[in-house]
Amino acid sequence: MPTTTPAALLLLGRSADPRSERGVECPGDLPLPSDPDLVARARAARDRLGDRAFVLGHHYQRDEVIQFADVTGDSFKLAQQAAARPDAEYIVFCGVHFMAESADILTTDHQKVVLPDLAAGCSMADMATHEQVEECWETLAEAGVADTTVPVSYMNSSADIKAFTGRHGGTVCTSSNAKRALEWAFEQGEKVLFLPDQHLGRNTAVLEMGLSLDDCVVYNPHRPNGGLTHQQLRDATMILWRGHCSVHGRFSLDSVNDVRERIPGVNVLVHPECRHEVVSAADVVGSTEKIIKVLEEAPAGSAWAVGTELNLVRRLADRHPDKEIVFLDKTVCFCSTMNRIDLPHLVRTLESLADGQVLNRITVDPETEHLAKLALDQMLRLP
Ligand code: 13P
Ligand code: SF4
Repeated sequence: MPTTTPAALLLLGRSADPRSERGVECPGDLPLPSDPDLVARARAARDRLGDRAFVLGHHYQRDEVIQFADVTGDSFKLAQQAAARPDAEYIVFCGVHFMAESADILTTDHQKVVLPDLAAGCSMADMATHEQVEECWETLAEAGVADTTVPVSYMNSSADIKAFTGRHGGTVCTSSNAKRALEWAFEQGEKVLFLPDQHLGRNTAVLEMGLSLDDCVVYNPHRPNGGLTHQQLRDATMILWRGHCSVHGRFSLDSVNDVRERIPGVNVLVHPECRHEVVSAADVVGSTEKIIKVLEEAPAGSAWAVGTELNLVRRLADRHPDKEIVFLDKTVCFCSTMNRIDLPHLVRTLESLADGQVLNRITVDPETEHLAKLALDQMLRLP
């Protein structure tokens, strides 16, 4: 029987769910959000730490946090940056749990990766558990296709899933290199098992690689055999895991049509985690880094409706007052887990590190790390 996906959100970050992608308790007292000295406290602790700490900030982080990042980036750039800082004793990861795990895998053993709030997980990563993925692989073996299938795992997955991918000769990818990852994978085998984001997998295969929607099937981990017959698995080229991003998955074709009516001449720019019909109706598609670049290079006076996380869209609208930059949808909001990292959590992290106490360290066990690193290194080697 298929296994269930564990309940995902530990909203207060104070209890433990070892089955979840991130959840363990968040110890220590937090400064009050109303403390007027938070910015000064963060600065003072950051200065005390000096070069011993390196602060990475994902583009979806709040402004109050991103101001303290030594480097900002999408998940690919941050993975590269973590790997390129062997001298920093502490990597403070302002992002979500799977990113901090990847940083731990890519850094040396003496470096400590810290996540300011352990409840900063990712609902998409929680949609594929190790047990479910092993069951899926058994189903592929029963259908006679496991030997010719290459797993490609989106960065937004737990270290266990990346280890599964490394063990079966696959690669990790991010939204900025998904096409190159698929091209590489189709040189190694005949089919791809893409997980956990069905939308990124489908959008890349169909809109960038020329496959058809009929070449794709969706494997549902909650149904026996993924809800597919052996013949369907044999006929498919892309086997897409039934997972999605709870933020990007909410943009709809209606939001695209509405904004085109409201703002004549608007350009619609979306992240490839959005649904296929949204990406197909957009003018430009790209990872967060690409979204930033497109808007930087856009001519003054142009209008853009952007379908990605709200912290980033707001920041870009503030940065480019000469362009009209609006959020694609009226109801979609922040990524709740990215937003878990706020100034009180950052202050607690920096002050405790400066005092020699490591709170919320993220570690991956050596066996998982070894296998996951095979898949991450493969991604870093993609042409
Ligand atoms: P990128 O950082 O690869 O654009 O991914 C977006 C995302 O959802 C991160 O959680
Ligand atoms: Fe996960 Fe989506 Fe939030 Fe990224 S934006 S952390 S994929 S839920």
